[in-house]
Amino acid sequence: MGVSGSGKSTIGRMLAEALDLPFFDGDDYHPAENVAKMQAGIPLQDEDRYAWLMRLHLLAIDLLKQNGGVIACSALKESYRKLLIDGVAKDVKWILLEGEYDLIKERMEARTGHYMSADLLNSQFAILEIPSYAIRISIDNSPETITEHIMNSLTKSEIGIVGLGVMGRGLALNFATKGFSVSLYNRHVAGKEEYVARNFIASHAELQNAKGFDELASFVVSLQTPRKILLMVEAGSPVDAVIESLTPLLSPGDVIADCGNSHYADTKRRINQLAKQQLHFLGVGVSGGEKGARYGPSIMAGGSHEGYQLFQHLLESIAACDKQNRPCCNYLGDEGAGHFVKMIHNGIEYAEMQLIAELYGTLRYGYGFNPDGIAKLFDQWLTGIHQSFLLDITVQILRAREDDNWLLDKISDASQSKGTGAWALQSANELGVASPVIAAAVHARFLSGNIGGRAEASKLYHDLGRHVTPLDEDRLGDAFYLARLINHHLGFELLREASKAYHWNLDLQEIARIWTNGCIIRSSLMETLRDILPTSLLMHSSVYPQAKGKHGALIDLIVSGTSHQIHLPCHSAALNFLNGFTINQPTGNLIQAQRDFFGAHGFQRVDDPSGNIHHL
Ligand code: 6PG
Repeated sequence: MGVSGSGKSTIGRMLAEALDLPFFDGDDYHPAENVAKMQAGIPLQDEDRYAWLMRLHLLAIDLLKQNGGVIACSALKESYRKLLIDGVAKDVKWILLEGEYDLIKERMEARTGHYMSADLLNSQFAILEIPSYAIRISIDNSPETITEHIMNSLTKSEIGIVGLGVMGRGLALNFATKGFSVSLYNRHVAGKEEYVARNFIASHAELQNAKGFDELASFVVSLQTPRKILLMVEAGSPVDAVIESLTPLLSPGDVIADCGNSHYADTKRRINQLAKQQLHFLGVGVSGGEKGARYGPSIMAGGSHEGYQLFQHLLESIAACDKQNRPCCNYLGDEGAGHFVKMIHNGIEYAEMQLIAELYGTLRYGYGFNPDGIAKLFDQWLTGIHQSFLLDITVQILRAREDDNWLLDKISDASQSKGTGAWALQSANELGVASPVIAAAVHARFLSGNIGGRAEASKLYHDLGRHVTPLDEDRLGDAFYLARLINHHLGFELLREASKAYHWNLDLQEIARIWTNGCIIRSSLMETLRDILPTSLLMHSSVYPQAKGKHGALIDLIVSGTSHQIHLPCHSAALNFLNGFTINQPTGNLIQAQRDFFGAHGFQRVDDPSGNIHHL
């Protein structure tokens, strides 16, 4: 397809030859009246085109009953294309020959023996509706090269995925259902991982056009150039191992996108390493877990901008959408910016999970609620300001039963982690940014891992007194909300400081937008924050009156919870941060005096800030 003069007949004929299929020129199917009109320079109307398109439609149906064929037809409007392939859409590939107006006009004026006048070209460009599903080929090349490009696009996959774990499988299905051709690779490990890609394809109808490999060289050959390869392998040395085996098989201009939870510093190193080989490397944070990968994750990309431009349409097509229907996907900055933002997402995620776990602990062990009762309260909260994906799944978890028991009671109390929360904390330490709530969440996981030690200690301390205060559910909600506000404030402040330190120019508002859907920390709170950023959250005029109003509730929760011997590290850290951040009663001066006293480190005087003075 394409406007008149774009080369459909020439290229169609060459393509048919390459594919060993018959060729049909749509022009030959025009009724005589249409040809007469065109020769007279009268543009065709839709009524004129109907009979012509129907003839071609019947031809297409006929060809599909045999081995297929190549048809050249301008097919400029979506309505024409619908008519042409009505009922057989999924068996048809559209190739749009694209060229600048001037180039086509020049070619048309040079050719003879054709009934279409150059004047009609204007009307053709005016009605052209570019189909998003077409393979778009530039005609600014020799016919041989154009045909080669089309063959490349027709027979090779648009994207390759390495690693078919839970996330890789979800992404593969997501791409395939969005109409992309995919090649899938999974390593071969005798007795453990055998024919993984082929078996996965065979068991999913959506993947009928996908190609499966357990050998890298043929996987690479199966991809359109420039190749776009998405890695979904375990972070750390497995990523380096895959890169090492892949790169000798690639050509300059190819792109690798690492979509796992890699450390941002590793990503920076890999970008530089691959740039030396003229390969693009992207560090892409993908959030949303198994379901997100399959139906729409939130995507945080960073690294080679040129590489992102090649990947952009693919990533945007599979991402979740925000309320304005824009993809929750963007390029956030160079180096490891994408993976850094994902790491902070996970820090916030850890704290959000811990805050919910703390309320669960307070209600269950402090106030004697059973999981159903807690689920009921959380469920009511889901329609209002507390709504979040994590609270939603918690309600489902709390209600899950196994026989007559709560499923939750069958799960070991040692919470684990893969490391991203601890990395976020390390970065906060390196940048010197206070992140006490993330710290509390990470350390709560470490502590929970010490099951044996906790069991011993609980025997020694079993007779601690308990102080019970009445439960007020609204105030509990206020405490939770304020702690979450502080958690989000701190996460965005960490991003703000990293952006300054690493010169990434991060757009905090855009990050909040990307986090409104698809990711694990999507929530109604995120929707409101996106309008407040880039102002520091706790300083915003719509936030600080709320924070002040809920301060007492957070204190109450901590007083009653801790006196019930409930572990409330994140709520406490949040309250202490707020106190430290907002109450101007100096104690840091005492630390300075102590440091100077024992180590002669000096201090700055309030009445003479010019120097560092050691007090003799
Ligand atoms: C997400 C999750 C995801 C994964 C984390 C969990 O955004 O989809 O964060 O990336 O679940 O790796 O991390 P831990 O294993 O450290 O809890």
